[in-house]
Amino acid sequence: THGTFTLNNGVKMPALGFGTFASEGNPGETYRAAKCALDVGYRHLDCAWFYQNEGEVGEAIKDFLKEQDGKVKREDLFICTKVWNHLHEPEEVEWSLKDSLKKLQLSYVDLFLIHWPIAAERTEDYQPKIGADGKYIIKKALTEDPTPTWRALEKLQDEGLTRAIGVSNFTIPNLQQLLKVARIPPTVNQIEIHPFLPQVDLINFCQKNNILPVAYSPLGSQNQVPSTGEKVSENPVLKSVAEKAGRPLAQILISWGIGRGYPVLPKSSNPARIKSNFEAYVLNDEERKEVDGVAKLAQGGRHDRFVNMKDTFGYDVWPEENKA
Ligand code: A2P
Repeated sequence: THGTFTLNNGVKMPALGFGTFASEGNPGETYRAAKCALDVGYRHLDCAWFYQNEGEVGEAIKDFLKEQDGKVKREDLFICTKVWNHLHEPEEVEWSLKDSLKKLQLSYVDLFLIHWPIAAERTEDYQPKIGADGKYIIKKALTEDPTPTWRALEKLQDEGLTRAIGVSNFTIPNLQQLLKVARIPPTVNQIEIHPFLPQVDLINFCQKNNILPVAYSPLGSQNQVPSTGEKVSENPVLKSVAEKAGRPLAQILISWGIGRGYPVLPKSSNPARIKSNFEAYVLNDEERKEVDGVAKLAQGGRHDRFVNMKDTFGYDVWPEENKA
């Protein structure tokens, strides 16, 4: 298999995880994808309160474990979930994890993350509150100082509702600020990483500080078109590495990420691709160098980021990247 990484608190995390965000959002899509992933051997599922499908993930886990009849147990799985922006007040963080656990039908998760470094207002029924401009209503104080939010995550770990805590979409300054106040330091920073967004500085910072980077969209979202007009799946160098290896490009990208030293979270709702993405392939030095070469070109200041929520949030996490 793909092996595991060990978090700074000793907890082991499978290097290949399955992303459960369902872009289509059709009923049953997440259940089928998550069940298929578990059946073909994935033991790490990446979930989030925001994905609105934890109930389906929970059903998939329940049915899978039942069918396994003790051959695979809850302890053999690694389940991550995240708290969304509008639930950053300490009591809301607790509400969020308990709501996720209920939907997932679990008594604990393995990892619980702050999804974005942004706190926002909620409605009475715990939905994000949208302002007159159609954007989130940012809570300035809690965004500028997330200490109360982090204290709530620490408490949930103390109580055994999660085995580890971490963050997602944090920048270097966000992490520096958090490291200063954390009693329990973050174990991971889950961020977008692929050859068009190699994140060299942020990865170096994480590794120096004992924080494991975790890659979402490791396939470069395959068919989304970045600013340059060239899709990851159409890059001639990447295509030729895959062709020469006789492997799908996705396997090349998965191996490249794990080889750089972090877990990767590809997602798919297609059973054949879910299965194919789980097939381990290890890049040789020459293949690795060719993919590194593509990443090197992207490092020169181009930011082909596929996930940027600034229009939804009305808040820019990466202002330095968006100077017109
Ligand atoms: P699909 O669900 O139809 O397989 P990312 O995780 O990088 O954001 O990319 C996810 C996208 O990549 C999904 O749209 C998924 O579509 C597609 N995808 C996943 N695995 C593969 C693969 N092996 N080959 C091509 N596309 C893939």
